Amino acid sequence: MKPIQVGLLGIGTVGGGTFNVLTRNQEEIRRRAGRGIEIAMVADLDTERARSLVGDRAKVVADAREVIANPEIDIVVELIGGYGVAKALVMEAIAAGKHVVTANKALLAVHGTEIFEAARARGVMVAFEAAVAGGIPIIKALREGLTANRIEWIAGIINGTTNFILSEMRSKGLDFDVVLKEAQRLGYAEADPTFDIEGVDAAHKATIMAAIAFGVPVQFDKAHVEGITKLQATDIRYAEQLGYRIKLLGIARRQDSGIELRVHPTLVPAKRLIANVEGAMNAVVVQGDAVGTTLYYGKGAGAEPTASAVIADLVDVTRLHTADPGNRVPHLAFQPEALSDMPILPIEQVRTAFYLRLQVADEAGVLSRITGILAEHGISIDALLQRESAEGEKNTDVIILTHDTIEGSMRKAIEQMQALPTVLAPIVSLRKEELA
Ligand code: NDP
Ligand code: HSE
Repeated sequence: MKPIQVGLLGIGTVGGGTFNVLTRNQEEIRRRAGRGIEIAMVADLDTERARSLVGDRAKVVADAREVIANPEIDIVVELIGGYGVAKALVMEAIAAGKHVVTANKALLAVHGTEIFEAARARGVMVAFEAAVAGGIPIIKALREGLTANRIEWIAGIINGTTNFILSEMRSKGLDFDVVLKEAQRLGYAEADPTFDIEGVDAAHKATIMAAIAFGVPVQFDKAHVEGITKLQATDIRYAEQLGYRIKLLGIARRQDSGIELRVHPTLVPAKRLIANVEGAMNAVVVQGDAVGTTLYYGKGAGAEPTASAVIADLVDVTRLHTADPGNRVPHLAFQPEALSDMPILPIEQVRTAFYLRLQVADEAGVLSRITGILAEHGISIDALLQRESAEGEKNTDVIILTHDTIEGSMRKAIEQMQALPTVLAPIVSLRKEELA
């Protein structure tokens, strides 16, 4: 049978990796797919670089629309990124009846509903394994492997750049700015690392996982997003003394009243496997009612790890493209007409534990006023640590770990504690998850 014909839009890091792995492992992949998979056309703005990568094995063009217009092309692989031209090209490819494979989490987290609906109407597949956690097959696991389960929660380290920064801050005691520069020098962080360090990239991925886990539309605009830019080395040290590590987690959790969807630095018990995921690695923990806890670990970025996921999608599409569209795995795991309107909860309604650091005057009665305010709001203390003051020092740090509470109550309590004349600096508050 003639190999299925693929058109690649963008041959940068992931596109280059995809071309190389597909070329290197083509025989193995053909035996799995039941048919060859051939990149017949490549579109990239830099045609010279593209030609130097693919030689005469594929036709190189500058205009991606030439690929989409080619009736010989069965699958369009979008590896350009962003929501601008990439969105237009994906929508045009779908309209032209092409299946689409993409690694573009930003595009799907923001415009997924429109894209999946267009694909459903046209009877084509949009596959996106590489969009979440790079080489880790987490989409496949959530959508197919765990399909028997009622998923309770997901918590993931799904941004390698920030995990690298947090690991270095902890192990070397360095400040954020210093490690960010190192991450840029090593090529982990982009020249403009905003999406990574502000938590936006992780929130894109968490949004996609939440949609698949709970059968709700993708709703990036409702996600609560906090990055790591304000995190201080002091809090990483105190957390460690208390037996915790701080990780930027993407969390999606089912509550009776709705779904929590949030990304923020989180204290995690140091004994949990996920707390020991270091450097640029990714990991996702999924809690299902039948299977219990499962953990997925691996490289979340890089040319070949991400290509591994892109090619897995190409094989899936090759196997399924002649199947009746009604019998294919739904894009978001649940049948489109069975998607739920369960709301994404505002952050004030999220239930979690907290780490608080208060810089206070070291004098009688300070602690009782603080604990009194917490008690007034029904917040129970789990652990408390006060730094021993140096001789002559008038201030000290009080660290409090709380039991689970509603975020809205904690915000009110912090406001009241902050107003105390004996609280001398802005209170640091971080969320804590036991992930038990
Ligand atoms: P790159 O920037 O390395 O590659 C993008 C390529 O697309 C570049 O070669 C660029 O050309 C080309 N391009 C830009 N505009 C057009 C256009 N209009 N037509 C054709 N080609 C165009 O990005 P990555 O490979 O890193 O990322 C690709 C996608 O994969 C993104 O969505 C990203 O989020 C996702 N992803 C990336 C991972 C990674 O490890 N890098 C991991 C997981 C997902 P030029 O350079 O000349 O502008
Ligand atoms: N910037 C992302 C990261 C790349 O650091 O994990 C993979 O999506």
